[in-house]
Amino acid sequence: KKVVLAYSGGLDTSVILKWLQETYNCEVVTFTADLGQGEELEPARKKAEMFGVKDIFIEDVREEFVRDFVFPMFRANALYEGVYLLGTSIARPLISKRLIEIARETGADAVAHGATGKGNDQVRFELSCYALNPGIRVIAPWREWDLTSRNRLIEFAEKHQIPIAKDKRGDAPFSVDANLLHTSSEGKEMEDPWVAPGEHVYSRTVSPMDAPDVATEITVEFERGDAIGINGVRMSPADVLTKLNELGGANGIGRLDLVENRFVGMKSRGIYETPGGTILLAAHRAIESITLDRGAMHLKDELMPRYAELIYNGFWFSPEREMLQALIDKSQTHVEGTVRLSLYKGNVIVTGRESPKSLYSLAHVTFEEDSVYDQHDAAGFIKLNALRLKLLSKQR
Ligand code: ARG
Ligand code: SIN
Repeated sequence: KKVVLAYSGGLDTSVILKWLQETYNCEVVTFTADLGQGEELEPARKKAEMFGVKDIFIEDVREEFVRDFVFPMFRANALYEGVYLLGTSIARPLISKRLIEIARETGADAVAHGATGKGNDQVRFELSCYALNPGIRVIAPWREWDLTSRNRLIEFAEKHQIPIAKDKRGDAPFSVDANLLHTSSEGKEMEDPWVAPGEHVYSRTVSPMDAPDVATEITVEFERGDAIGINGVRMSPADVLTKLNELGGANGIGRLDLVENRFVGMKSRGIYETPGGTILLAAHRAIESITLDRGAMHLKDELMPRYAELIYNGFWFSPEREMLQALIDKSQTHVEGTVRLSLYKGNVIVTGRESPKSLYSLAHVTFEEDSVYDQHDAAGFIKLNALRLKLLSKQR
């Protein structure tokens, strides 16, 4: 018996590693992904070795993450409940996919994750895993063990000589999930939705109040709906997002304090920082504004909440998500060009957009004289549209 564990190297998943070895008496394979969380991964290898793990997988999946998950999602302008850019939700299918692949490679019959039994992440991990391998067994220690409090978890760690970072002793910190797209913080002081989070909660954006007093001007270049460069310099997907994160973080962009509806039914409060993603969404909408037909745009806007909810709820690997993706991708064929933005104290201000595929017709819209549009046509257009309103109004 063998289990592949999604292993961050942190305290919780280290306890899980030991617990799996003890409880299931099985061989554990660890998988640690560099999703751009900005943490050293080598300590995870050392720790896994210390636990006697033989198969240790440590992989840089940043390019795959942005190219195959983040960018497809941004083509849809996806937002959950109007504001959440889905930074955690979109990373889970990728981790699950690698867990399943590694299980196949190493002959493991199970995978394990460190999500609690109360949240969305357990659902996302497990729906993805079962979609990719219906026979896989998933172990979720948080739903099984009796380490139900932070103190008991730390006791267990001490008993098994699992190193505990100094700041994790005593009062445990809040829960953080980070990757190239965002950092999310939940729990502890944030559990009271009335209490404003302290500045210490934020880790990758300066406060808008401390941001520079001069605006930063940038351009973002697009092809087929994806950002392919910044300031005229072509870059890989992960590099684009990394650069936008730097620019956004320095200008206090992308902070969000949200109470959201978890799939499992409860509401939870989270603090999110999505600096690059916030710029990218504004830039993408701006390039769409000149390259997408109205009917195409309005249809994808109608479908967007459905698409976002599928990702939030863990249905990335579902036929309906793939159907919507095909529609969205089709809409992006001519979404190319350049957007100019001004970044200033938490604000993303679009100041220009241009495209060789632009549908914007100055000849038609100009307030000056034109030779292509006959204003008389509008009279009949309005007359027929007004017909039923007039009939209704008369009758009432
Ligand atoms: N509430 C967010 C979501 O469901 C983030 C969950 C993970 N974040 C965390 N701090 N543990 O996508
Ligand atoms: C967790 O429960 O592990 C984190 C929060 C969530 O998944 O919603």
